[in-house]
Amino acid sequence: MLILVIGQGAREHAITHTLQQDLNVEVICAPGNPGIAQIAKIASVDINDISAVVELAKKHNPDLVVIGPEAPLVAGLGDELRSAGFLVFGPSKAAAALEGSKAFAKEIMQAAGVPTADSKFCQTVPEARAALELFGAPYVVKDDGLAAGKGVVVTDDFDAAVAHAMVCIDSRDGGAVVIEEFLDGPEVSLFGVSDGTTIVPLTPAQDFKRVGDNDQGPNTGGMGAYSPLPWAPENFVAEVTKTILQPMIIEMNRRGTPFVGLLFAGLAVTSRGVRVIEFNARFGDPETQVVLARLNSSLSDLLMAASSGKLSSLPELQWKPESAVTVVMAAKGYPDSPVSGAAISGIDQAQNQGSLVYHAGTKINEADELLVNGGRVLSVTALGSDLAVARTHAYAGVERIRFDGEHHRSDIALKAALGEIRLGDHS
Ligand code: AMP
Ligand code: GLY
Repeated sequence: MLILVIGQGAREHAITHTLQQDLNVEVICAPGNPGIAQIAKIASVDINDISAVVELAKKHNPDLVVIGPEAPLVAGLGDELRSAGFLVFGPSKAAAALEGSKAFAKEIMQAAGVPTADSKFCQTVPEARAALELFGAPYVVKDDGLAAGKGVVVTDDFDAAVAHAMVCIDSRDGGAVVIEEFLDGPEVSLFGVSDGTTIVPLTPAQDFKRVGDNDQGPNTGGMGAYSPLPWAPENFVAEVTKTILQPMIIEMNRRGTPFVGLLFAGLAVTSRGVRVIEFNARFGDPETQVVLARLNSSLSDLLMAASSGKLSSLPELQWKPESAVTVVMAAKGYPDSPVSGAAISGIDQAQNQGSLVYHAGTKINEADELLVNGGRVLSVTALGSDLAVARTHAYAGVERIRFDGEHHRSDIALKAALGEIRLGDHS
């Protein structure tokens, strides 16, 4: 079976690596990256040029296309590939709006009775100011559109909140901002794979959004993740599936825009119960690295079943009992202004001692050297008998790898490994 994976990050590296574990699966990744090129074929393409991607698919004629990033999904790549006759894992443009527009996601949640933060959608600065005063500090200010995980500001500073609201409103024609209630409690990323009517939850993970240890500094795309969550409430996954994932799938279906692909619920476990922070319409990065490391069933069977409306007949997914931890190694200046060009060494040594090293922002120059080429550079992933052991392995891999200006968090999965996460904490 030939599978075309669209994207170029550590997420797509992990997806490609996991698909390749299945017998009879061959992957082409477009455009891929230097790490993916070591394990699969790659093909160069601009993933935001929909017709170029459709042409590429026609040339290779894959049995399935898996779309990694949100931007092409929100732009309608899934629809165009389906019209051209391909089986696609990834929602239509209409369904991907659950990620593309926070206001739309709120409307669907309300219609589906899904618990989320109270919020106000504002198109002018006076409206935004009034909403900030209404909810009070800490202030939560979100760009309505796609912002690569960086459009949200959470702050106690009223002026900073107003300033971010102004940026969002001015960002483009029709710019708008969502102001909402602050949700206090540990965060969970739960993925559900859906064929439009059935949704199958994957194992939960926790992401680390802030750039620095102890959740200091600005938000990023994600600096690390772990799975499973020893502190999660009993029946957490079953409960969230029933109260959040399934109602969303039913509502999208009812509107004639079924969601086929990966529905990613970003959740806060608050003292008043689980609330949705946001939905994404694709695999999360870096959560995918730990979730797939623990998958003990065929990923290609799962994605095929979802793309062809057959999830209800898929055998139950199996998970490894081990824990997984991934640590993102970032470039100097990330997230504000990442600096590319530093030479990277030590990946072989990290791999030799058992780490999975997924590439994100890397490139190879004419002299065949591996260089930093983006903000999140590598994602170093390891399994262990428990979270403490998985952390030790992942950080041992990180210690082998070097590049100028490299920085990473040193506390990924630390509180969870020490049993220090209590429900009601903000982590
Ligand atoms: P989002 O892009 O919506 O996931 O937001 C990025 C991050 O901002 C989340 O992972 C949270 O850490 C934080 N955040 C977003 N919304 C809220 C909220 N209502 N209350 C508390 N933190 C939030
Ligand atoms: N790690 C969060 C995301 O993929 O959006």
